[in-house]
Amino acid sequence: MVIPVDVVIMAAGKGTRMKSALPKVLHQLAGRALLAHVTDCAARLSARQAVVITGHGAAQVEAACQGMVQEQGGAESGIRLQFARQEPQLGTGHAVQQALPLLADDGITLVLSGDVPLTRVATLQALVDACDGQRLALLTLSMADPSGYGRIVRAGEQPSAQVRAIVEHKDASDAQRAIREIYSGIMAVPTRLLRGWLGRLDNQNAQKEYYLTDIVKFAVADGVAVVAHRITDAAQVAGVNSPVQLAELERVYQRQQATALMEQGVRLADPARFDVRGTLVCGQDVEIDVNCVFDGKVVLGDGVCIGANCCIANATIAAGAVIHPFTHIDGEKLGVQVGEGSLIGPFARLRPGAQLGAEVHIGNFVEVKNATLAKGAKANHLAYLGDATVGERVNYGAGSITANYDGANKHRTVIEADVHIGSNCVLVAPVTIGVGCTVGGGSTITKDTPPGSLSVARGRQVSIANWRRPVKNKAGK
Ligand code: UD1
Ligand code: MG
Repeated sequence: MVIPVDVVIMAAGKGTRMKSALPKVLHQLAGRALLAHVTDCAARLSARQAVVITGHGAAQVEAACQGMVQEQGGAESGIRLQFARQEPQLGTGHAVQQALPLLADDGITLVLSGDVPLTRVATLQALVDACDGQRLALLTLSMADPSGYGRIVRAGEQPSAQVRAIVEHKDASDAQRAIREIYSGIMAVPTRLLRGWLGRLDNQNAQKEYYLTDIVKFAVADGVAVVAHRITDAAQVAGVNSPVQLAELERVYQRQQATALMEQGVRLADPARFDVRGTLVCGQDVEIDVNCVFDGKVVLGDGVCIGANCCIANATIAAGAVIHPFTHIDGEKLGVQVGEGSLIGPFARLRPGAQLGAEVHIGNFVEVKNATLAKGAKANHLAYLGDATVGERVNYGAGSITANYDGANKHRTVIEADVHIGSNCVLVAPVTIGVGCTVGGGSTITKDTPPGSLSVARGRQVSIANWRRPVKNKAGK
């Protein structure tokens, strides 16, 4: 029988060393709150629920959590979240006490911290398995410099000797401080036993706090087995206390993403200059140059090439497309689609609802928003296409724009197939440029143009013969 797991996430602490008005657990790693990484992990563990202990900035943290659950697609795909407030904060044992009314005795309580974002699901599953509803299971590791951490005190020298207690650094003797095995801050404990042990805590210690770690000695006294599940990868249990540590863990996380993609065959010019803040799915023979940032959900088809310094969010880029350097793509909620073999950039901007067919060319300083461009359409220089439908093989001249906004409402521009729009045109929407039309450079088009026509809408040229330019007055006159 599978024993249900209830996750308790401690997130009441102040995070003084962040020196920030934002509660620590809401600081972002890879574009998401630290706490979201932890609730995500709980969800992937198929935990029954997560109880978040809030204190400092409680209302803000709770509101942000609700948002995260919605982002995950609601309770079905995410996890049931509950909150327990801890005010004031009297220690980690006191924190878990606040969750007790929300925990059922048939389960295992898995204690996590909202500021420890990189724990692997498999590690937590192994810890839960070690607990098995009967033992107190501690996640531990050996550190070259264990200072500041709770030490794992064992009955003997052997690594397998019985665990007797966790002693906090500030309470430890010199001999205990020499112990290099530390408690990670993560434990799995049968809830029915936890309830009894938490009732026995006191704060007679160096920090005058109710230490969760004191339950180890109660387990030993009660004859309950205490098992240490040792890991060697410190990043999995590393917490964020300062901007420096946040940046360090960001790099660890990004290196993991980069390595995983390279193992799938993606060629990264430099894995140290590559950031994924969401999910990036790549086909075969994808190449990504330096300093690219991928946000939200991005899919790159076979053979896609991304130049240096591109920011790409919520977009699907089909096979063989080339995104030249310094291109900014953000699909937000509507998404952006780039068709097969398209050439985008350098310095292009694709905004929500840009849907480009195959072999579309979007050049430098061209902005596309909520517009569909059919196969082979080109807008190569300094242009704006907003709220537009553009047919096949259209050539959209330099400096031309769709005037889609009348100050109150947005309107659509339709440019049918094989149209040639000259340079510096203004297409005042709503307007339709008929199939095969030509629009002369510098035209302001306010009326539909019949198929196959040439439209020129600008002042006629006047040339005055033998024109003499004014000359400068002589000095003193
Ligand atoms: C704790 C452990 C220590 C372990 C270390 C690993 C205890 C007594 N000690 O120490 O053995 O080696 O973690 O990092 O548990 N929190 C609350 N309410 C409180 C106090 C803390 O929510 O009243 C939260 C903090 O915000 C933080 C987490 O609990 O997320 C851990 O608290 P912290 O004070 O950092 O624990 P340490 O003293 O480092
Ligand atoms: Mg502390």
